[in-house]
Amino acid sequence: MPEPVLTDLTVVVLAAGGGTRMRSRTPKVLHAIGGRSLVGHVLAAVEQLGPRRVVTVIGHQRELVGPHVLEVMPQVQLVVQEEQRGTGHAVRVGVEAAEVSTGTVLVAYGDTPLLTGEALREFVAEHEAAQRAVSVLSGIVGDPTGYGRIVRDADGDVVRIVEHKDATHDERLLGEINSGIMAFEAGFLRDALPRLSDNNANGEYYLTDLLGLARDAGLQIGAHVLDDVVQTEGANDRVQLANLGRVLNARVLERWMRAGVTVVDPSTTWIDVDVDLAQDVTILPGTQLLGATSVGEDAVVGPDTTLRDCEVGAGAKVVRVHGELAVVGAGADVGPFSYLRPGTRLGAGGKIGGFVETKNAVIGDGAKVPHLSYVGDAEIGEGTNIGAGTIFANYDGVAKHRTTVGAHARTGSNNTFVAPVEIGDGAATGGGTVVRGDVPPGALAVSAGPLRIIDGWALQRRAGTAQAEAAQAALDASADE
Ligand code: UD1
Ligand code: CA
Repeated sequence: MPEPVLTDLTVVVLAAGGGTRMRSRTPKVLHAIGGRSLVGHVLAAVEQLGPRRVVTVIGHQRELVGPHVLEVMPQVQLVVQEEQRGTGHAVRVGVEAAEVSTGTVLVAYGDTPLLTGEALREFVAEHEAAQRAVSVLSGIVGDPTGYGRIVRDADGDVVRIVEHKDATHDERLLGEINSGIMAFEAGFLRDALPRLSDNNANGEYYLTDLLGLARDAGLQIGAHVLDDVVQTEGANDRVQLANLGRVLNARVLERWMRAGVTVVDPSTTWIDVDVDLAQDVTILPGTQLLGATSVGEDAVVGPDTTLRDCEVGAGAKVVRVHGELAVVGAGADVGPFSYLRPGTRLGAGGKIGGFVETKNAVIGDGAKVPHLSYVGDAEIGEGTNIGAGTIFANYDGVAKHRTTVGAHARTGSNNTFVAPVEIGDGAATGGGTVVRGDVPPGALAVSAGPLRIIDGWALQRRAGTAQAEAAQAALDASADE
């Protein structure tokens, strides 16, 4: 945790707006990139400043936004802005409810997920060092349409911010924009907020007008130009959301590559911000590591693998797998084409092979389920081998039941274990066995009947078919020998 910049910093996060351009039932700030909501990203950056107080102004869909904010950061003070009358009004509502009158107030928006704690810290530090009443974080953008523009005088000093709708033709040519992030001396802010007017093109109370107000009062103001301007971009619609998601992902991948992870194809690899990777992990193309997934040293994941909230042990191999809430032990082998459902725990050196689905299944160290099987609600002891095509029939149409297979057992191919059933340590089953009762340790269970041969069956019962002809030809040939 980096050291706090300040002893008396209040952060006001604005998240009351509607976000209509998302065209969504989900509030804008709750849309996610990198496995975290937009407002969650902002709060994570804010947390790095070690602020004394964090106030979040909510309004639209506050019954959804409020609880989410508290889940992400329980110490946040939520303040409701009943009617959205502009950024100046929103900050006023927040500052008054929180009774902020000293120190520095930093204002950020809830929809700018790429903002880093580092950029905020530099901005606030400069604001404080210069003893300004107001600072604005600005950026130079190619297309400034829609943004407030930073107006400077002939000496290059900041004069005011003019909103796009209120700007003259010449002002609209200015390429330096207001990112929306501003810092204030709290005393000035409290005094000046009630003096804002809504006499402008939007009929709103503009927070940005405080810059000009401070200058007119002879106070220090200034702008801090952020080079990495993408950090201040908001996600207003789903196209921007996807773009920001891509930028965030590239950032996350770069961090892991610098920490010693091989990412073969960054363009098809997606890693959520809370994923944890050890050194010398290799990630092959087409892989998504989501949620709280962690991968241990030297493990290889992918290609074409999606893991959500999974734990992969050191040296494991996970190839073409879809997994959720599953644990793969050290040195274990999974895939290709396996489906690990919640509650799967594969022991060290174990194997879950091709076309195997597992759920709520604890599979011991060195145990193997190599081919074409379903393992549900089961425990398999260490060193046991489950034959190809085995179904753990856990559901009787009413309730789920468990199956236990002991250690070092060998079960045949194409078995069905009709739960609840217990197969003992060192037991065996024959091919095609349907296990309906317990098998004691060391016993062999067979349920398929003895093999019967009915000679000439195809000739009589399938006369005139290719099957019968082939049989006849083979019989004739062997009669000639
Ligand atoms: C604002 C700035 C503009 C800047 C731009 C950067 C003002 C007047 N303008 O314009 O200079 O270039 O952001 O993106 O500040 N909000 C509330 N309550 C309100 C109004 C807004 O909580 O009453 C929140 C919104 O949810 C949003 C943020 O404040 O997160 C910005 O509001 P928005 O209406 O998008 O401001 P812009 O017009 O884009
Ligand atoms: Ca906006």
